Amino acid sequence: MKQITKAAELQQAVAEAKAQNLEIGLVPTMGALHEGHLSLIERALKENDFVVVSLFVNPIQFNNKEDLAKYPRTIEADLDLIKSLELRIKGACTDRLVAFTPTVEEMYPDGEPTEIVYHFGPVEEVMEGPRRPGHFSGVAVVVRRLFDLAQPKRAYFGEKDYQQVAVIRALLEQIKYPIELVPCPIVRADDGLALSSRNMRLSPAARAIAPTINATLEQAAEMAEYEDVDDVKEWVVDTLASFHEVNPSLCPDGLKFEPEYFEIVDARTLQPIENWDAAGDLGAVGCIAVWLDGVRLIDIVKF
Ligand code: PAF
Repeated sequence: MKQITKAAELQQAVAEAKAQNLEIGLVPTMGALHEGHLSLIERALKENDFVVVSLFVNPIQFNNKEDLAKYPRTIEADLDLIKSLELRIKGACTDRLVAFTPTVEEMYPDGEPTEIVYHFGPVEEVMEGPRRPGHFSGVAVVVRRLFDLAQPKRAYFGEKDYQQVAVIRALLEQIKYPIELVPCPIVRADDGLALSSRNMRLSPAARAIAPTINATLEQAAEMAEYEDVDDVKEWVVDTLASFHEVNPSLCPDGLKFEPEYFEIVDARTLQPIENWDAAGDLGAVGCIAVWLDGVRLIDIVKF
C-alpha cells in the first residue's frame, strides 16, 4: 500500500494506472476503519486492478459541529489495518493499493463549500434527509471530488448507510459518470450488531444490549410474513422503546433505546410503503435510527 496525501500525486498515480489500462476501484471512507470497511477494500481488490481507498473526515457533511469534533481520527491505526488486510489476503497488492489521506485544504482548495450544491428530490426527503439538512449534498460534493480524482470504474459503499447508497445512485444519474456503484452487505459482529465506528463510543452495558436492534429487525422480517406494514413498524418501535422496562437488570442508570425512526420503504425509491405489494423490483427495506447511550446507531433489514 502506498499512502498519498496530495490530490496531484493521486492524479498522477491514476494517470499511470490508466495508461496501463488498469481498472480502478474506489472505496470512499472517513477512516476509523473496521472489518466492514476492510470487506469493501477486499472486494475492490478482487474486482479491480488498482484500488484507491480514501480516508477523509469530510467536514461539510456534518450538520452538527459536535459530531464532527467527536468523529474518531485514527489514521495510523487505519493504515495498519489496511496493511494487515494486505497480509491476510496474501496478494502482492502493495503496488496496486493507494490510501488517499488528504487534508481539508487539499480536498477543498477553494475553501469548503458552505451552500447546498446538490438536490436529489424524494430520495433525500425521507429518513436522514430532513433530520440532517445539507448532509447528503456534503456527501455528494466529496464523493464527486473523489470520483474526479480517482476516475474509478467501480465505487464501493456499505449498505448500512442505505440512503447514502440511493443518493450516490442519484448523483451518478445526475452527473452521468459511467461508474458502477457497488453496494456491499453490512458486516456484523458475532452477536449481530452492525459494525460502525460509533460502536466504540458505547459503554459496556450499552454494547451488551445493542445487538437487540438487529435481533428485533430480524424478528420483524419474520413477522412480515403475516403482519401488515404498519403493525410491523409499530412493533419494532415499541419493542425497542420498552426494552428497558421489560429488562431492567440489563439497563442500569437509565440506559434505554430511543428510536428516532423506523421506516419501511421501497428499496429503490426509499418512499414509505403502506402494504408489502407496493414494493418495486428491489423489494422493501426497513431502515432504523435509534439512540443508545448518547450514540445514534443505524441499521437495516431487507424484507
Ligand atoms: O460513508 C461514509 O463514510 C461517508 O459518507 C463517505 C461516503 C466516505 C463520504 O464522506
